[in-house]
Amino acid sequence: MDTVVSGIRSTGNLHLGNYFGAVKNFLKMQKENNCFFFIADYHALTTHPHPDDLHGNIKQVLAEYLACGIDPESATVFIQSDVPEVSELYLLLNMNAYVGELERTASFKEKIRKHPDNINAGLLTYPVLMAADIIIHKANKVPVGKDQEQHLEMTRRFARRFNTIYDVDYFPEPDAYNFGNELIKIPGLDGTGKMGKSEGNGIFLADPPEIIRKKVMSAVTDAGPSQPGQEPSEPVKNLFTIMSVVSDPSTVKYFTDKHSSCEIRYGDLKKQLAEDIIKVTDPIRNRIKDILADNQYLARVVREGGEKARASASKTVREVREIIGYRPF
Ligand code: TYM
Repeated sequence: MDTVVSGIRSTGNLHLGNYFGAVKNFLKMQKENNCFFFIADYHALTTHPHPDDLHGNIKQVLAEYLACGIDPESATVFIQSDVPEVSELYLLLNMNAYVGELERTASFKEKIRKHPDNINAGLLTYPVLMAADIIIHKANKVPVGKDQEQHLEMTRRFARRFNTIYDVDYFPEPDAYNFGNELIKIPGLDGTGKMGKSEGNGIFLADPPEIIRKKVMSAVTDAGPSQPGQEPSEPVKNLFTIMSVVSDPSTVKYFTDKHSSCEIRYGDLKKQLAEDIIKVTDPIRNRIKDILADNQYLARVVREGGEKARASASKTVREVREIIGYRPF
């Protein structure tokens, strides 16, 4: 049995990238393994949410998670800030995380580029908190998308470093995990890059069908293939990638063949893609509303999940303190 940890920031609604990159793999693991699933609401503070919004954001993301099929009877579902032990482990790990290696992290460099006005220390040490989230439950598998690969490498490094410094075999080195072996990157609809929460290029699980149709119909394409067998351009490849996760393989083949023979009509491809996205997201969308309306249920889930996560986290922190040399008088 594996111990599995995965999480999502409470900074916006879940999109297709979150679902196919991380949540779907977690769903497959939750019954047979010791699974922890949490809302990263400490991590969310790097973007300075207003106090009036923080709770509502957490609640929305929690409801969306549960609507995807994450089952609190099987997995431990909790809110990161309900387990403050993680902040102690984060502090302890920070003592052996070097500024140079943190500054070289791709996600940090990207944040500097995009938000030069808010380069806070929380962003710099984001991978350390993420490592603490994972190793505090001694996880060995972490279902995440491709964009988190480097953070998982750093988690392994921090775990290994702790074991080496204190000459113990305490933390396992966790792996980023996907059932298909390759970590997934779901692209956006704007022709370049990954689908993101704040990139304006995403399809959200909570989007109503008419919005999904509108977004897909206005996705970037190109002028069409000019020679048989021509490789699709980047934006068109992206649409095929999304199609490969939501549509039947025969549908993907149909449109791939049409592209190859220069007979493709992007309007037809988009119409089909929109309907297939709607089919996948429909049941989730309907459940989100019901779950959001049931405050008692949500409160019970996070209370029970928080207690279980705290029991696991406080055991680790107690042992880590001991290893480091904190002793009772
Ligand atoms: P977040 O909220 O940015 O993303 C949550 C999960 O969704 C995946 N993801 C994608 N996968 C494929 N294609 C995309 N376009 C795409 N966009 C997002 C992410 O890889 C991630 O798995 N740092 C984490 C949150 C976190 C965490 C953790 C995760 C904090 N502590 C511990 C696992 C374990 C993050 O990026 O969240």
